[in-house]
Amino acid sequence: MAISKKVHNLMENASWIRKMFEQGAKLKKEYGDNNVFDFSIGNPYIDPPEKFFDVLEAVAKDRSKNVHGYMSNAGYPETRDAVAEYLSEEHAMEIFGEHIVMTCGAGGGLNVILKTILDPGDEVIVPAPYFVEYGFYVDNFGGILKTVPTKNDFSLDLVEIEKAISEKTKAVLINSPNNPTGRIYDKNTIDGLGLLLKQKSSEYNKEIYLISDEPYSKIVYDNIPIPSILQSYTNSMIVTSYSKDLSIPGERLGLIAVNPSLKPLSELLSGLIFSNRTLGFVNAPAIMQRVVKDIQGLSGDMDIYRQKRDLLCDMLFDLGYKFTKPEGAFYLFPKSPIDDIEFVNELQEEKILVVPGSGFGCPGYFRISYCVEDSVIKGAKKGFAKLAKKYI
Ligand SMILES: Cc1ncc(COP(=O)(O)O)c(C=O)c1O
Repeated sequence: MAISKKVHNLMENASWIRKMFEQGAKLKKEYGDNNVFDFSIGNPYIDPPEKFFDVLEAVAKDRSKNVHGYMSNAGYPETRDAVAEYLSEEHAMEIFGEHIVMTCGAGGGLNVILKTILDPGDEVIVPAPYFVEYGFYVDNFGGILKTVPTKNDFSLDLVEIEKAISEKTKAVLINSPNNPTGRIYDKNTIDGLGLLLKQKSSEYNKEIYLISDEPYSKIVYDNIPIPSILQSYTNSMIVTSYSKDLSIPGERLGLIAVNPSLKPLSELLSGLIFSNRTLGFVNAPAIMQRVVKDIQGLSGDMDIYRQKRDLLCDMLFDLGYKFTKPEGAFYLFPKSPIDDIEFVNELQEEKILVVPGSGFGCPGYFRISYCVEDSVIKGAKKGFAKLAKKYI
């Protein structure tokens, strides 16, 4: 076999999201774009803000010496300073440029962190349902992904997390607002998690890191607050990106923000910078770093996603589907009335593409990505109604 057995096997179990997206593309070719209702992928729907294009144009005009040259592997100091200033305000604590590492998206950032902290056999605890790429990322560095269930409303179950922690635990990885549930973890829960990790770190006499993957932190509805994990736990790191809030996932820009009180701080930062380089990223995309330096805090009109959430939730609620209303991100995760894979296959016959909960470590549900035209949501009503009549 030309490719490794390992990659071959991983690809066999590859992401349901991609599978359904590719299936959608096939159906669109056969039946026409307007007759296929594709809710498979989380590609942002709204355009990047005007100001993004203005700054991009200005930055592109720069012809100064070495403007496209190599830089410090952690990123431009001016960009890291600008990010740190913005985050200091958001998290109500002093964060400096030295605590920031610019990365190739949140996905790149997660790989950089995991490469830096994992030895083979180390465990990373992840509440399910979860973004399925986590499994591949942890496996990249010989780690073991240990999933734990969440509560019925998809909030964190600290009892389950406590049961899962052992001397092998290196990190707990959470994602809020969550893909695929849209759940935001509240301050009490995050404080409780911080306390638990502090106790367990001292019980096992080791650092257990809390990694918070937050690419949807600007896509929040109804003014629900997102608590700062940096305030709740010392050995914490945030990974985020500009993919979803600026609608630029193709540009691959994200960052890691390390808690200034983390231990051992300088060793970990040096490790992250080394990993950013040696994973072959070398540094995050230069031109985008120069753009975001000037537009910290800017994001698109997220009320557009709220309107889509409401349109979809009202429609499915009236049809009898059961779900927890999302508080953020742009996904809905309803209960599947029958086996989720069978249900997703039946929806496909109605030209509706969604992703089974099994693809997120949570069978019995399915994910609808609602960053689509309203006409796609409205057009899918007939198919959802037909299956509701059959199964609900
Ligand atoms: C939970 C979660 N984390 C990370 C990512 C990767 O984001 P990025 O495109 O910034 O790498 C995604 C993308 O969909 C995601 O949903």
